[in-house]
Formats: sequence, structure tokens, C-alpha cells
Amino acid sequence: MKIRAAVLHEIGRSQPYLESRPLAIEELELAAPGPGEVLVRIKAAGLCHSDLSVVNGDRARPTPMALGHEAAGVVAALGPGVDDLAIGSHVILVFMPSCGHCTPCAGGRPALCEPGALANGAGTLVSGARRLTLNGVPVNHHLGCSAFADHAVVSRRSCVPIDGDLPFEHAALFGCAVLTGVGAVVNTARIEPGSTAAVLGLGGVGFSALLAALAAGARDVVAIDLLESKLDLARSLGASLCVNARDPDLVAKVRDATQGGVDYSFEMAGAIAALETAYAITRRGGMTVTAGLPNPRALWAIPAVSLIAEERTIKGSYIGSCVPTRDVPRFAALFKQGRLPVDRLLSERLRLDEINGALDRLAQGLSIRQIIMMDH
Ligand SMILES: NC(=O)c1ccc[n+]([C@@H]2O[C@H](COP(=O)([O-])OP(=O)(O)OC[C@H]3O[C@@H](n4cnc5c(N)ncnc54)[C@H](O)[C@@H]3O)[C@@H](O)[C@H]2O)c1
Ligand SMILES: [Zn+2]
Ligand SMILES: [Zn+2]
Repeated sequence: MKIRAAVLHEIGRSQPYLESRPLAIEELELAAPGPGEVLVRIKAAGLCHSDLSVVNGDRARPTPMALGHEAAGVVAALGPGVDDLAIGSHVILVFMPSCGHCTPCAGGRPALCEPGALANGAGTLVSGARRLTLNGVPVNHHLGCSAFADHAVVSRRSCVPIDGDLPFEHAALFGCAVLTGVGAVVNTARIEPGSTAAVLGLGGVGFSALLAALAAGARDVVAIDLLESKLDLARSLGASLCVNARDPDLVAKVRDATQGGVDYSFEMAGAIAALETAYAITRRGGMTVTAGLPNPRALWAIPAVSLIAEERTIKGSYIGSCVPTRDVPRFAALFKQGRLPVDRLLSERLRLDEINGALDRLAQGLSIRQIIMMDH
């Protein structure tokens, strides 16, 4: 079938993206779903910093690539062998297709699926196939999703069913921002009620972590970003202390306000400067969690003795250490109960052809989550 999709042909075009137009809206040919695959009619897709990181080369991927990895939609066709989804089911797409039987999957850590990671790096579905072509030339899939499109063929293992009453524009956020940010707090860190937390980097991922820390009973949540507008929203959502990352007294202010540092800090900016600060404001015996994805060449140095003498923990968090089929329903239930108001992350609704301007706003940090609404 013919579809419209946002395709990246060349990495590293200059800003403003509204002028250089790294994403071209192309008419692609989408093949029918193969064994174990599903055709999804995309209804809403969010822009995440990880899309920008492909565009600017921080996380280079093979081109041409149809971008987009945070989305919700409706199952439109089933490939052979898919018998646990129905046409018409609502699903979100998850950016790591867990194979179900590699060592991490078998150990309950599908975020680390080995065939999934290989397929994502290669730009294929987990089956190894590419279902997209442009004038007969194969187009790579982005993280098994390629969701800035009216339709996508994805592995069944990239789909998580959701209740039909969850609005698509909110459901889409669960695929990346919510799983990553909430999971970092409740799965990776497992914070205790009454603990203190800090979140550095207030995008969709960081705000999800902030809401999760509050929902999990943190007594104080410190919010840190470069932009005052982000700090204002953090304050209104319940952060007890908001500090600009450029404040030269930041570390002292946070340590003073939290009697020596926070129990848990969460680096959600993808910047080494933020990781350094996150470590500096973590108390003795505390945990520093990082989910931001810096350029693979970026290195981070710490005084090694602090790890030992202060019994520090540093943990990486990918997809919030989530088991998506377990965690999406859990987090969605908290959202419906009003205890995890992730709808507050939705900044703008856009059309697919407005996507290059959306990349500019993302690069400048001006939005939290911009959602592309597909007009079917
Ligand atoms: N681990 C995962 O599974 C996973 C999943 C999704 C996204 N990510 C990564 O998480 C990061 C955040 O994603 P997002 O979509 O929320 O990004 P975003 O661009 O929407 O938000 C990032 C925020 O960090 C702020 N920031 C930048 N430098 C900072 C600094 N030095 N100190 C404090 N704040 C700073 C920016 O002002 C912005 O508000 C990205 O690196 C993204 O690639 C990781
Ligand atoms: Zn993402
Ligand atoms: Zn696996």
C-alpha cells in the first residue's frame, strides 16, 4: 500500500530545520505484514529527543530512514501467525521489540533484548525484514516503528495493547516518554516513599520521572533545567525546589535544601554536564540514575574513591527497565486515576508536514512533547 511518512535522507543538516528540511514527507510503498507482524494505522506520534539525535548525528543510524518511535494507533491487518491481537485493537508501539527468548528477555529484562538491539541498529524489523521502499529502494525502520507515517508495519513484539478509551494523543506518550521516565523511578531506582529525588532535564522523559517521583511518595523533588519555562511547569506540578542548571550555586543550594544531597538523582537531559551535576547532588549512599542518551563518544569522569567511600550507586536505565506488557497497563491505570497526569506533557498537536519546524522547537527545548496527529 502507499503511505505518507517522514523520511531522513541525510544526517547532520544545519538548523533551522524549517529551512534545511532534514525530514521529507514522502510517498512510500509499505509491504503487507509478514509472519509475526502487524499493520498499524497510526493515530498519534510524539517527537522525542532520540528522533532529533538521529537527525543531528548524535545517534547516527542508516539512511534513508523513516523516523518516529513513540506512537499509538489501531491494528489494521494481521500477518500470519498473529493470533493474540484483533483488527481494531488499540496499541502503542514500543521502541525495543523483545524477542522473548534471548538471555535478557528470558531474565525479565526485555529492554535489553539482543536481537531487538541488533535490528534497531540495522534499521530492520526484528524479523530482519524491511517493509518500506521508496521507488523500489529499501527504507530503514526507526527502532522497529517508523511511526511518523499514516501506517506502519511492525513486529507484534513492538506492540502493547491498550484500553480503547485512552485518547491516542496521550497513549502515544506511553511508548517512550512515560515508560522511560516513570520506569526509571519505579523500576530502575525503586525509590521509597519519603525519599528525596532530583530530576535534571525537563523534557517528556524528565517530566515523566518527576511525576513518577511524586506519585511514588518522594517527600521532596528537585527540578533542574536550563529553561525557566520548564522550571515554572515543574513548580506547578509539585517540585519543591527548582534550580536553573546555569546557577553557579546549584550544587550547594540542592545539598543545603536536602541535608547533604538527594537520595536519588535522575539525569534525563542527555548531557554530560547534567550527569556531573546529578552525581554531585546525590547524597552519600545515594543513587544516580541516567536515562539521557549522550553522543556515544562522550566520556564521563568521576573521582573513583567517591563510589567506594560513599557507597554510591550509578545506574543506567533503558526504556525505564520496563517490561512494557506489564508496565503500560500499570502506568495507564495511574494516569486514569489522576495520579500520573502525563497529559500535562502534551505541548502542541501538529500535522505531519509541520515536522521540520517541530524539530527546531525540540532542539531549542521550547516544547515538552509535540504530538503529530494523523488525519485519517
Ligand atoms: N534511556 C532511554 O530509554 C531513553 C528513551 C527516550 C529518550 N532518551 C533520551 O533522554 C533524553 C531526554 O529526552 P527528551 O525527549 O525528554 O528530551 P528534550 O529535549 O525534550 O528535553 C531535554 C531537556 O534537558 C534540558 N537540558 C539540556 N542540557 C541540560 C543540562 N546541562 N542540565 C539540565 N537540563 C538540561 C533541556 O533544556 C530540555 O528541557 C534524550 O537524551 C533522549 O535521547 C532515553
Ligand atoms: Zn524516545
Ligand atoms: Zn530478546
